[in-house]
Amino acid sequence: MPESRVKDSSLADRGREQLYWAELNMPVLLEIRRRFEKEKPLSGHVIAACLHVTKETGVLVRTLAAGGAEVVLIPSNPLSTQDDVAAALAQEGIHVYAWRGMSEREYYNAIGFALSFNPTITMDDGADLTATIHKIGHGVRDQTIEYVLETAGSLDAAGLFSRIRGGTEETTTGVIRLKALKKSGKLLYPIIAVNESYTKYLFDNRYGTGQSTWDGVMRATNLLIAGKNVVIAGYGWVGRGIAIRARGLGARRVIVVEVDPIRALEAVFDGYEVMPMDKAAEVGDIFITATGNIRAISLGHIFKMKDGAVLANAGHFNVEIDVAGLERVAVAKRRIRPYLEEYTLPNGKRVYLIGEGRLVNLVAAEGHPSEVMDLSFANQALAAEFLAKNKLPVDVYKLPDEIDREVARLKLKTMGIEIEELTEEQRRYISSWELGT
Ligand code: NAI
Repeated sequence: MPESRVKDSSLADRGREQLYWAELNMPVLLEIRRRFEKEKPLSGHVIAACLHVTKETGVLVRTLAAGGAEVVLIPSNPLSTQDDVAAALAQEGIHVYAWRGMSEREYYNAIGFALSFNPTITMDDGADLTATIHKIGHGVRDQTIEYVLETAGSLDAAGLFSRIRGGTEETTTGVIRLKALKKSGKLLYPIIAVNESYTKYLFDNRYGTGQSTWDGVMRATNLLIAGKNVVIAGYGWVGRGIAIRARGLGARRVIVVEVDPIRALEAVFDGYEVMPMDKAAEVGDIFITATGNIRAISLGHIFKMKDGAVLANAGHFNVEIDVAGLERVAVAKRRIRPYLEEYTLPNGKRVYLIGEGRLVNLVAAEGHPSEVMDLSFANQALAAEFLAKNKLPVDVYKLPDEIDREVARLKLKTMGIEIEELTEEQRRYISSWELGT
């Protein structure tokens, strides 16, 4: 059996303290863990989890292991691993292949490592693991597959698919990729889109990213947000969270750039300025992308920016800002702080890019606070249980509503908050069509 690989095992003690702190703030997941310990619903399953290797993910994988699963943990981003947490988990029987700052080759080697354990359930954040498995299934051989094979050994595609019961997907971008796979008729096993649970996207994408994105911007730059003009590309769940917190931090102008007229109108009614990036580029001090789309900030936009503009990305992939273009045209580049690069443009202006344009909250900060991941990962744990208990036809699913409500109910309970209950009369009233004026 392949050995775990982490940056430095001597960091394990610090990792255990991090996990302890996260567990104190993840009571819903701990309640699920207690039930899993008794019922062992994941017994016999091998879960390959391709997630940001953070302390919160550590609490999730411990919960999956408590449910009887053998767990392999690999990163869903080359720059987001917390090395101390990876070291601690590797000492607890979790198979870990993760360190911060992986090359592209090492990143795909990690996927090969996960596949060598013959997973029965995949857990993904951004769909790199699932897409790679599908490339193998459809006979695609590119450079990434060559890297996968270096650690997977010989791969028997038929055997791989006969074992996989299903998978889960954590984020918007991953769900979009998997729905595209389904639409093209090429999806090969069922997927639960955890992102589509209310108790995921309404809280994680909005309040989690809203806070942790600013945490990343502030740790990387230590700039004062008050008085700045903040430009946010994308007014989805993530963009809304970033906008609310920008206002709370005292930004002078909060400018939203959107392509969808309904979301743009919502931004207007929420009290923000709305304009195209071409115009926003000229006035912004801090730019944050959250579109899930390519080149929301193009090289043309960057040339229009003020000297000293700060750029960060909160969307899943590092394609939202044209970093490759910036690298190509810059006349000088230097690192001036951890996770902060200065680029000098041919026109003499300087722009500052945080964390190579990768997920700012995970690269320059620690990702979402534990309390939020408590909800997202409760959904992940329950989705794994759902897959273990139900043999689903191949499709992309949302978790059943009862599970979503149960997660919210548990969270309220652990927060000591009681809510109103419908009376029998009210239940009848809202379910009848005869009762009117
Ligand atoms: P969403 O689909 O709700 O919102 C994206 C918005 O961007 C849409 O309103 C869309 O119309 C808009 N958009 C698309 N192209 C655009 C362009 N060129 N210019 C301006 N607006 C554009 O998605 P959501 O849930 O807000 O997620 C956004 C991204 O953030 C995804 O990549 C998602 O995977 C990622 N994400 C990152 C997290 C983190 O921890 N940093 C957490 C959760 C999600």
